[in-house]
Amino acid sequence: MQLSLIALGVALIGFAVYHLVREYRHINNKKKIPGPTLLPFIGRIHDLPIDFMWLKFQEWAQQYSGENGFYMTEMLGSKFLVITDEKVAEELLIKRARYNSDRPVIRSLFDSKSTHGSGEYLPLMGKNKYWARQRKLTHGYLTEASNEHYYGVMYHESKRWMARLIENPDDFRFSLEDMASKVMCQLTWDDPSLSEYCTKSAWGLLTQMSPAGPLTNVLTPLWHLPLPLNPWKRAEYKRHDEQQAWWMERLLTTSDKMDRGQQRPCFTRKYLETGHNRSKLDGDHEASSVIGMMALVGIFTVAGPLSYWLVSMVHHPHWQASVQKEIDDNCKGRMPTLEDTPKLPILRACIKETMRWKPNVPTGVAHEMEADDVYRGYFLPKGTRILPLDWAFMRNAEKYPDPENFRPERWLDPGWPTYREPLTEYPTIKGMTSFGFGQRQCLGQTVTQDELIVACGALSWCFNLKPKQDPITGYDLPVPLDKSNSLLIIKPDPFQMAFEPRNEARKQEALRLWAVSDAQDQRERAAFAKGAEAEKLSDVYEAVDMSYVPEKEAVLVKANEIQKDEILCTSIGNVEVEVKVAVGA
Ligand code: HEM
Repeated sequence: MQLSLIALGVALIGFAVYHLVREYRHINNKKKIPGPTLLPFIGRIHDLPIDFMWLKFQEWAQQYSGENGFYMTEMLGSKFLVITDEKVAEELLIKRARYNSDRPVIRSLFDSKSTHGSGEYLPLMGKNKYWARQRKLTHGYLTEASNEHYYGVMYHESKRWMARLIENPDDFRFSLEDMASKVMCQLTWDDPSLSEYCTKSAWGLLTQMSPAGPLTNVLTPLWHLPLPLNPWKRAEYKRHDEQQAWWMERLLTTSDKMDRGQQRPCFTRKYLETGHNRSKLDGDHEASSVIGMMALVGIFTVAGPLSYWLVSMVHHPHWQASVQKEIDDNCKGRMPTLEDTPKLPILRACIKETMRWKPNVPTGVAHEMEADDVYRGYFLPKGTRILPLDWAFMRNAEKYPDPENFRPERWLDPGWPTYREPLTEYPTIKGMTSFGFGQRQCLGQTVTQDELIVACGALSWCFNLKPKQDPITGYDLPVPLDKSNSLLIIKPDPFQMAFEPRNEARKQEALRLWAVSDAQDQRERAAFAKGAEAEKLSDVYEAVDMSYVPEKEAVLVKANEIQKDEILCTSIGNVEVEVKVAVGA
């Protein structure tokens, strides 16, 4: 009996070892795309660090990419084709986009691809009907906003930011993100006061979707534990439901304000006025999500290069001085506007070089093969994930000599491979590999370029960005170059620095510009509200058919003096009327 049990045990172990060896040989077959040696079932997950994952991908690139410009690895059964040469990314993700414009599932988000119709996160959607119609709507709204120079919102917010930096420079990390958030909250809902919550909401989604977020994004089987044993799923239910409720509240609030004639133009109003007929969205849930997502996606994306701009300028004072001189010479002492863009190539070169030097989506955003394909003789099965490794593209020494250093001259001097004329147009960040490829390419390139020109232009006009001094030792406090989080969209770890107004006159002018802009904004909002009241009252006149009555103007004046929800009892001609100013004074 004992002998037969031992024999059975040996046989089982032998069987398992045989299969492991067979699997090992199969997955490491020499005819396959080169890549790091894989272990059965887990692939290469054991030595891929969560922190600074892009550096490990780059290390493997040096070992396995060779002439190909790509290599293959696997994680828990998912195949990853890592592209390390941008020409390959163009061939695959642009020319052969019909095979690979899907997205991989993100395990720790419910229905991340909208396969089951959730319609919530445009950038993460699979290539389905929700993606197609939401991409079209987003593209249309962002294009119109950029044609209108964002209705002045970027100027207003960058002036607010300069004043905040003068008054409370140590809070710069908060005010920087808040500036980006206020821009998006005004465009989407015309309400900058929503920015803090919106940023929190964006952070929640960013951490949830990043490999460096919940453990279930890496150890994906854990996600399937039953709910009582699954803290990750319970936390995600909470996050998701709160975000959805908030997006819906924004849409309903806008709709309510529109009914009262109180809603100024914004993306949500535009959608409610015209979009629901034309955009084929499924109704309020999908509409509130696509607009909410637009607000979220424009925060940390733009805040990343803005934060790294501070790092670049502190470390390269001579480039900072060149940008300041360019702005002073060309804008005659004014804060720069988008009209000045053609005259500011050094500012654009420093912005572009910041994004090259410190790419803020260093791993790139994965595509997924939606059909089998053969590329350069290699078979790529449906379901393979394709990672365009931006870190590798940006450190290609042939295209970017001296890649580890901040060299804006590569965009300004004809001797460099990336130089391009005319300098009134180039350098431009539009089309950088950092914005992705093909059918999934980023829709926010123009917004990003414009916001960075306005914000970095304002910073350079107003301040000398410098290291801060340790109050005890008097030495400069370090501004680290290589410390960041490891989320999908990265930002530098907290650091300290100084914002020194360039001179007293600049400081006073910056404060004055904000005071004027703020007062004008308040006047415009008040005038809109009063205009809405007047319209409401003219509806009353029409209702009682007294439009000829001479007292009309007097009623309007009185109505402007009363508060929201107060009742104005008056007479129009010989008719007694009660007017309730529902829209507020
Ligand atoms: C530095 C700033 C930004 C960077 C580096 C960036 C990068 C990216 C990347 C890598 C993708 C995926 C591309 C692909 O899959 O090939 C993407 C998609 C997207 N981006 Fe951006 N982005 C930035 C700013 C913005 C802004 C400001 C907005 C909007 C306000 C925006 C809206 C979108 C949208 C809607 C998508 C989804 C496109 C799709 O899946 O079809 N992005 N972005």
